Order: sequence, then C-alpha cells, then structure tokens
Amino acid sequence: MRRPAPRLEYYVPHNGGAASDFAECARRGLCGPKKSLDPRFLYDERGSEIFERICSLPEYYLTRAETEILERAGAEIASALPPRCRLIELGSGSSAKTRILLERMNEAQGDVTYSPIDVSRALEGASRALLESYEWLRIVGVEDTYESGLRLAHSSGDAPALIAFLGSSIGNLTGSCARSFLRTVASVMRAEDALLMGVDLDKPESALVPAYDDAAGVTAEFNLNLLHRINSELGGSIDVSKFEHHVVYNAGERRIEMYLRALEGQEIEVCGGRAELRRGELVLTEYSHKYTPEGIGDLAAAAGLRVERTWHDSARRYALVLCSRA
Ligand code: TRP
Repeated sequence: MRRPAPRLEYYVPHNGGAASDFAECARRGLCGPKKSLDPRFLYDERGSEIFERICSLPEYYLTRAETEILERAGAEIASALPPRCRLIELGSGSSAKTRILLERMNEAQGDVTYSPIDVSRALEGASRALLESYEWLRIVGVEDTYESGLRLAHSSGDAPALIAFLGSSIGNLTGSCARSFLRTVASVMRAEDALLMGVDLDKPESALVPAYDDAAGVTAEFNLNLLHRINSELGGSIDVSKFEHHVVYNAGERRIEMYLRALEGQEIEVCGGRAELRRGELVLTEYSHKYTPEGIGDLAAAAGLRVERTWHDSARRYALVLCSRA
C-alpha cells in the first residue's frame, strides 16, 4: 500500500544555518571602527513577533499597500501561472500575505506545494498554522538564508515555481548586493519560473521616516532587541538603556538608514572582543532602499530578469513586479 507523502517537510541545514555565525558577526561588527550589525539577526523569535506588530502600525504603510495589491491582482497572477506551479517564498515571516497568494493558486490549480524560506524559527509554527487552514496544501520549509535556502527549496521539486520576495526586502540590500542577489535568483530560475517582488517606491522624507520611527516606539523596540539578543545569547554586557533607535533618510542614496546610537561613551564586551563606543556613535543595523519605477527596471535588467507586469496600490506608494528570466 502506498503511503501519502507527508504534508510537512522541514529542513534545517546541518551547519546550524543562520544562527551559527551570530557570535562572529557581532564581534566583528562591533569591534571595528565603522560599526554595524547584520540585519539578519534582528529576526529571532521575539524580533519576528515585534516585526509582525510593525506591519500593522499606522505609519508602516508598506504591508497594507502590498496586501491591497495582492488582493486586487492575486487572481490574475495565479491564473497566468503554469499548471502545477509551486510557491517558494523568500523571507516568509508569519506568511500572512502569502495566504492571499496560496488561496488564489488553489482556486486556479487545486493542490499547492509551498516552500517558505526564513532564518526565523517562527517558520515552523507559521507552517503548521497554514496546514490547519488548508487541506490542499503541502509544505516543504527551509530554515536558512535566502540564497542557500532557495537552492535547496528549488531543487526539492521539478514543478515550475513562483518565487515570492515580498515586503520590500530587496530594499534591505545595497544596490550592488541587490543586483548580485537577484542574479543568483535568476540563475536558479528556469524559463517557466517567475519572480514576484514587492518594492517600496521613493517618496518624500516626511512620509518615509515615520514608517521606520513610529510614535509608539515599536520599531525602536525591534532595533534594540538586537542588543538584548547579544546579551542573552552571546553573554554580552551591553547596557541597552545607553542606546537609542535612530533613523535618517539619505536622499542621495534613496534609502532609510537605521542605527543604534550610543547615548554616552562606553566600553562593551562581546564574545571575547572589546568595543569602545564614543557618545553619539552609530551602529548601523539596516538599510531600506527606495526605488523609482525606472530604478526597478534597471535593477531587473542588470540581474538578467525581465519585468512582465507591475501593479501599484491605489496611492502609488508601492510596486509589485512580476519578472521572468530574460
Ligand atoms: N523590509 C522591511 C522594510 O525595509 C524591513 C523593516 C521594516 C525593518 N521596518 C524595519 C527592518 C525596522 C529593521 C527595522 O521596510
């Protein structure tokens, strides 16, 4: 008798995946002259929880804009996909917006295989919740960084794939990293695969800054959580009250820059290293690049992708683009 395939497969790479190099990254990032912390480490369980709260803040328009577009264009996207198409998602988080895509794909084609890829442990819980909602769903999840997770997820099946990269996460990479990352995505894609990418559009500083520096202080909490994490997981000795969340819009680079700013001079110990911080010194935690419509086309072209369709929200703050391999 044949047994049905399990509905949930879940891969965590042997090298400990995303978590293993936290210590080394934190030490290198804090002990050098130009300080930074890798944004990937913002998303531990608590960080992912806080991020979900960011997504529903009144100032954070990105999630609502993207949801509006998915609700309007989802059926059209799903019906244009090849038969038996699976969904691979880079940075799936709680998979809330993904539900719209999954439901439309189910209406267009029946059963759906979904491969969420995320560095966050929240992945497994989110996957179980999805399976409870949808009996037509099968999940092959990968807890890893985008690039190695994508290779693993893509090679785990041979059906065509829609690769979703939502939430304007492309903006968290600098221009050259965004190009080389998308080149990697394009190199994994086959002719019948497609990439669905959310991109935040450039706009006046007065609309951008509040989205990353909200009145309720949720984004500050998210940013400062990185320091709590260094203390609790790496035995750090950081007095978190001596730091504040600091956001600037860099118009020349068209990007939001997020920092932790030292409120006073201090010395901290991290993983066998020692870091001196001056009063006012900045530790970079995240960039969020904003694009013009032309900039999106240039980025796709430089990566070997062709933009097939673009949708906007009604206020034209945000773009969702569907690309194929050029
Ligand atoms: N991709 C999201 C963005 O650029 C990530 C994000 C939103 C974020 N708010 C943040 C990252 C605050 C760090 C801190 O909008």
